[in-house]
Amino acid sequence: MKSKDQNDEAVFNATMKKEGRDEFKGQVAIVTGAASGLGFAIANKLLSEGAMVALLDINQDGLDKGFQQYRPKSKVYPIDITQESLVNETIAAIAEDFGKIDILVNSAGISGETNVVSHEVDIRDIHKVFEVNFMSSFTIAKAVIPHMLKRNYGRILHIASIAGKEGNVGMLAYSSSKAAVIGMTKVQGKEYAETGITVNALAPAVIRTPLVDALPEQQIKYMTDKIPMKRCGTLEEAADLVAYIVSKQNSFITGFTFDLSGGRATY
Ligand SMILES: NC(=O)c1ccc[n+]([C@@H]2O[C@H](COP(=O)([O-])OP(=O)(O)OC[C@H]3O[C@@H](n4cnc5c(N)ncnc54)[C@H](O)[C@@H]3O)[C@@H](O)[C@H]2O)c1
Repeated sequence: MKSKDQNDEAVFNATMKKEGRDEFKGQVAIVTGAASGLGFAIANKLLSEGAMVALLDINQDGLDKGFQQYRPKSKVYPIDITQESLVNETIAAIAEDFGKIDILVNSAGISGETNVVSHEVDIRDIHKVFEVNFMSSFTIAKAVIPHMLKRNYGRILHIASIAGKEGNVGMLAYSSSKAAVIGMTKVQGKEYAETGITVNALAPAVIRTPLVDALPEQQIKYMTDKIPMKRCGTLEEAADLVAYIVSKQNSFITGFTFDLSGGRATY
């Protein structure tokens, strides 16, 4: 299994190969969970295609080390996104620092306890997982949308999960929180449909990241066994799809949950 550093290097190399494209030149993006996994890959992809990116994560060290090569196009905002007052201050600071906000990708997330059936779930775990996965995606979007409304343009992407569509056994908190994210996406897509802001979600099956590495092998096998391609998705595949979803070209899709599942979700 690759270490996190090797994983990060592979992502960086893959995205740098494509550097030189200016798809997002002049645009300002916020990526949460940018210190690791999908958020890291997505932030790299947007930066390599010309965006300026505000990087949010509780892991300051990961942000500092991961994005040195992109300063000053990127700026690190180390926060715990479950603190609403900090979220509001940070989004205001980003709007001030960069002058506008075009894109928001909510990627920060936790899996919480796994392998626990519903009657044995600790209610504190449900609260904790909902705080990070659902409430923070809501509060960050709430703080960002007024900035997008001012300019009648925005691309919001909430990273949900196939678990939110299908329900993963032993992952009640995670699956339910992601189902809530998908529900929020449908509401917000419709609410802002006439404003130039689109709101979509992404439902990956298994992408090999530190979040997945932290799960018991049994849980990972349970998930890959359900994927017709019988493999995890790659970070590059995820970042490529995200780049399309948050691009200007993606202008007639909103409230939608994109699947990234190797054939698992066909509905
Ligand atoms: N990896 C997968 O297979 C997979 C599949 C489906 C959905 N997802 C979703 O994709 C998103 C990213 O997952 P990943 O695999 O890249 O995970 P990851 O663990 O590699 O990265 C998550 C990041 O979120 C940050 N974070 C967690 N809690 C935070 C908090 N309170 N405040 C600020 N930052 C916080 C972490 O520090 C970390 O850097 C998550 O929402 C996850 O649920 C992942």
